[in-house]
Amino acid sequence: MPADNRYAFLVEWLDPQAQLVRQYLLFFYSIDGTVEMDDIKNRRKFLRRCEYPGISFQDLYLGATVSVYSRELVIVDYGDEFTKGQLEQKKEKTLALIKPDAFLKVGKILNAIYKDGFRVGRMRSLHLSRGDAQEFYAEHRGKPFYDELTEFMSSGPIVALELISDGAIQKWRKLIGPTNTFKARDEAPSSLRAQFGTDGTRNACHGSDSPASADRELNFFFNQPGRFPVTARFNNCTLCVIKPHVVKAGVAGAIVDSIVEEGFEVSAAEMFNLTRVNAAEFLEVYKGVLPEYNLMVEEMSNGPCIALEVRSEHAVQAMREVMGPHDPELARVLRPQTIRSKHGLDKVIDRKSTRLNSSH
Ligand code: CMP
Repeated sequence: MPADNRYAFLVEWLDPQAQLVRQYLLFFYSIDGTVEMDDIKNRRKFLRRCEYPGISFQDLYLGATVSVYSRELVIVDYGDEFTKGQLEQKKEKTLALIKPDAFLKVGKILNAIYKDGFRVGRMRSLHLSRGDAQEFYAEHRGKPFYDELTEFMSSGPIVALELISDGAIQKWRKLIGPTNTFKARDEAPSSLRAQFGTDGTRNACHGSDSPASADRELNFFFNQPGRFPVTARFNNCTLCVIKPHVVKAGVAGAIVDSIVEEGFEVSAAEMFNLTRVNAAEFLEVYKGVLPEYNLMVEEMSNGPCIALEVRSEHAVQAMREVMGPHDPELARVLRPQTIRSKHGLDKVIDRKSTRLNSSH
């Protein structure tokens, strides 16, 4: 970290009294570790520059929650180009795959990814054809396991993710553990392959092995629009959108896992960004109905969302049942077993779970 810089972050705080999301600019001065805050809407100083030992430079990254004088602030964006440039350039990217044998574990794996401090840049579920799998694993052509591997990889849906963090490539390989599931169980029992893998070839997850392969593999999955079929089935299903605040806060995996634990099948997942115009169209039914419509549009276009296709008998009604009342405070009292109640453990989580939506 350079000796004397001012880093700026856009942070949000849910004002529980007003039920409003308030935005501030949080500044961190690297020379002495002091912090300062500006109230964006009212264009005034909110917190004068002061020492705040509870915050260090390592705590400041997108999606992090920091507490300043009992306010839980979520870092939703960089506050200026300088900060963005300084912090993004040292981040590494890697491709992660959730293979067919672990597709149903996407919630648990996503949760582990967020808990390990990764940011998910892109994510989509898809089908590989046999030819796609052969191309992706071309470097293994001729090896004894090549046929079994490509047959397996095209045998069911998979999830591709772009993971971003310092040292993402090695960090993800450490989290997934040794290639062989049995070896993983012996040597790294808490690794993802140990927990969710099946055998030598069917090993739950993949990770790029170098910056060059990460580049090639990310391009393969994310820069060929329309090449891979989606996994959505479009029957017996409902749509669940995990909104930007939840995604940024890193609890999307826990929510997907809760949905699965409730007996639903999560058959498709895709991360995407809505423009303001698209968000306004998507939420149009609430226009003039809910007073917070504008706020909802703003939030919906405020960062990446995750769209899920969730399947079950009578999926729309069943999903609404397990999600519970819109307000998690009410959910805790009235329907303690619901997803909103379970994820409403504290103020921060409360506010995220209120932004989980389900609709047709
Ligand atoms: P992955 O990390 O996706 O990279 C190549 C894949 O080939 C590997 O995970 C396994 O799924 C498979 N693989 C690698 N080595 C072997 C092996 N010796 N026997 C069977 N499958 C293997």
